[in-house]
Amino acid sequence: MPIVPMKVLLDHALEHRYAVGAYNVNNMEQIQAIMQAATETQSPVIVQASRGALKYSNLVYLKHLMLAASEENPDIPMCFHLDHGNNLESCKTAIALGFSSVMIDGSLKEDGKTPTTYEENVAVTKSVVEYAHRFGVSVEGELGTLGGIEDGVGSGQIQLTDPDQAVQFIKETGVDALAVAIGTSHGAFKFKVAPKLAMDIVDEIHRRVPTVPLVMHGSSSIPAELVAIVNKYGGDMPNAMGVPMESIQAASKNGVAKVNIDSDGRIAITGAIRKVFVETPQKFDPRDYLKPARDALYALVKQKMIDLGTAGHASEIPVKTLEEMKAYYA
Ligand code: G3H
Ligand code: 13P
Ligand code: ZN
Repeated sequence: MPIVPMKVLLDHALEHRYAVGAYNVNNMEQIQAIMQAATETQSPVIVQASRGALKYSNLVYLKHLMLAASEENPDIPMCFHLDHGNNLESCKTAIALGFSSVMIDGSLKEDGKTPTTYEENVAVTKSVVEYAHRFGVSVEGELGTLGGIEDGVGSGQIQLTDPDQAVQFIKETGVDALAVAIGTSHGAFKFKVAPKLAMDIVDEIHRRVPTVPLVMHGSSSIPAELVAIVNKYGGDMPNAMGVPMESIQAASKNGVAKVNIDSDGRIAITGAIRKVFVETPQKFDPRDYLKPARDALYALVKQKMIDLGTAGHASEIPVKTLEEMKAYYA
């Protein structure tokens, strides 16, 4: 199956009230784990790469790993998505590599730290939509800012999305999906107590713009049992709380069709590798610890696909190629 535009996955999820996980990747093992989970559960899937991931993999390695993933899993509709593009240039680079979807995070300036004005956000998002749609590529925008900082990215402050502005933003920019700030936060150290998410914001935007899928970033649940494995084998992670799956499930019934998950995968991988190092310190073949790491990520993602309701929908996706989407946008 070709790598499909994100819009076809999200429109189906929105209509059928489930969510598609968007899983961050940097290397082969992560991509294999996610694809194995998708094939076993027959789930459509979004595999996403940040600018940091592209830099780490020297751009072209991730591109070819994605092509390998689609070749090896022909029944799975998969989208290859740029996470947190910071300007038109980074989106152009991703599109040239063959990504079928890009996020332009116009909620922050190019430095990925300083919040923009509404007008600045509209201007950069519009320029990406105009460019990407010429290639049939889907665009995710963001309005409002999340908490948390990852690798120096993020303002560190939460600015909840204003529903009136969101409705206006969707109209002015023509985005295919909108990431909303409702109190979630990037990273593994999110909250000390269970968060109270501003679901009323999701409800109101969805009521007023029911055909545009909404996106939740910062949606790792930070499972205590995975953090415990990291700590048991010499790690030092505080027992933070993440976003409970029940909150995500509730949101997926009301307009949220894409859920971003990175930190949970990082924790699963790290715990599995630490365990091998501590229990069998004589081992030095990378396959001896990368395979358990891949297995741990596979198990995590498989459960997410079941919990998010993605499982079983792969064959129902009305697959459209980028060429067909080009005609649609034109
Ligand atoms: O939102 C950020 C993602 O978790 C990607 O993180 O920029 O460290 O690759 P990264
Ligand atoms: P987490 O840090 O909660 O996994 O969020 C990832 C994310 O939003 C990537 O864009
Ligand atoms: Zn994010």
